[in-house]
Amino acid sequence: MVPNTKTARAMRYSLAAIFLHWLIAAALLFQIALGLGLEDLGAKAFAQYQLHKSVGMAILLLSLLRFGLRLALPRPPSLESGFPGFLASSVHAGLYVFMIGAPLTGWMLVSTAEIKVPTLIFGTVPLPHLPLPDGLHAVFSGAHEVAAFLGLALIALHIAGALRHHWLLRDGLLYRMTPVRSWLVAALLIVLVPAGWAAGRAMLTPQESAPVSPRPLMSNPAPAQPVENGVAPAAEAEAETGTDAATQAEATAEEQPEEASPEAVLPPRWTILPGGRLDFTASYRADSYKGAFSRWSGTIVMDPDRPETADIRIEIDMMSANMGDATQTSMLLGEDFFAASQFATAVFRTSKVRKTGPDGFQADGTVSMKGVTAAQTLRFALSGTGARRHVTGSATIDRNRFDVGTGTSAQGIAPSVTVNFAFDASTSRAQ
Ligand code: HEM
Ligand code: HEM
Repeated sequence: MVPNTKTARAMRYSLAAIFLHWLIAAALLFQIALGLGLEDLGAKAFAQYQLHKSVGMAILLLSLLRFGLRLALPRPPSLESGFPGFLASSVHAGLYVFMIGAPLTGWMLVSTAEIKVPTLIFGTVPLPHLPLPDGLHAVFSGAHEVAAFLGLALIALHIAGALRHHWLLRDGLLYRMTPVRSWLVAALLIVLVPAGWAAGRAMLTPQESAPVSPRPLMSNPAPAQPVENGVAPAAEAEAETGTDAATQAEATAEEQPEEASPEAVLPPRWTILPGGRLDFTASYRADSYKGAFSRWSGTIVMDPDRPETADIRIEIDMMSANMGDATQTSMLLGEDFFAASQFATAVFRTSKVRKTGPDGFQADGTVSMKGVTAAQTLRFALSGTGARRHVTGSATIDRNRFDVGTGTSAQGIAPSVTVNFAFDASTSRAQ
């Protein structure tokens, strides 16, 4: 039995139900478009994975709310009985299963993955992993994919049904899901659905350079940087290094002996100038992770012609590590990697520096990090002459010696991490 147009017009879903219907519909299409492209983006798509998981969890909450409202609020009676009515109710039931089942299987698949990558929903709320056996990962992964494709099929049937009512039966059913009876409003709401899909596809453009490239963190003026935890790292770094450089310059001026004094034979003391960089690269399967420290300082006492008398000490503020991505950075600062809240500083100190070429040097010494002190060698080269030199260098650090990268979140990351640095240094002593 098909009630007349007037009946259909008189009844409409609650405004809350209408709002949630279109919001969830657009978000679902966004999610499927984004989800289908994730695999092709590879391990560097950290930000897109986080976005997919965040939007998915938001859909789960909104769908539970929508389902709760359906039970709590009156809704229009079915327009059709018989097979069409049964089909419509079955598709609606299937859509609810999809709206709740797709995010749940997504949550289950990340909870059972070999590498337990933490999820920060919209960069703020941590998502706990469900206590499920890892052996079920393949099952959840398959279920997630099947849920998405079943969902697409149900959506197609659902849209076909809605349009059948609108154009063939002309019973005004479509307007039960619009806040006002207007074809324009209905059209605008329907357009949200393909717009969600298009937005999801747009998110698949690789955004590698932004999240992972190290920036010249000590440069002056500083480039624009994201604000994390209320602190703009570069701005802070600039302020810190500015102060540091000033203090060191002061110390240099104070401590430099008079030209004629016997201390003139002591090696000169160098000030690290703002604008340098200290970054690191860790290989992860075929990819690599890059990051940088924005706050570090040092005392360098060295005569390049007599390196054996050198004494170099570099201090790194571990909290200033930044990978250009909030989640990766928080993982790095966390227990499994730097445990930076407990071990705030890492120190490199030389015991012996020797020349390896006309401008090349090797510095043997120790690194103290995360409560462990171990022997470490680094190589560097000097360029320039006189009282201002440019320093570039690198070291290969075995992260396992310092317990950096324990637990499943470090699986697949190579044990050797390359550290690179470059900076200018000046001395008030003429060379
Ligand atoms: C794309 C994802 C979509 C999902 C997941 C979805 C989901 C749902 C669900 C679960 C219901 C049942 C509401 C209830 O009785 O509690 C419903 C109703 C409805 N949907 Fe959708 N929908 C989507 C897209 C669309 C589109 C694109 C249209 C229009 C072309 C549409 C038009 C309608 C209409 C008119 C109703 C009310 C049916 C009635 O009164 O019996 N939906 N939708
Ligand atoms: C309504 C919500 C969701 C929809 C419609 C959806 C849809 C999809 C789709 C279509 C794929 C691609 C499947 C494939 O090609 O294998 C996918 C992959 C993925 N989804 Fe979701 N998803 C949703 C929610 C979630 C949630 C809440 C999470 C985690 C908390 C999640 C995590 C993932 C992950 C990690 C992948 C990649 C899987 C892989 O590469 O094996 N998804 N999703």
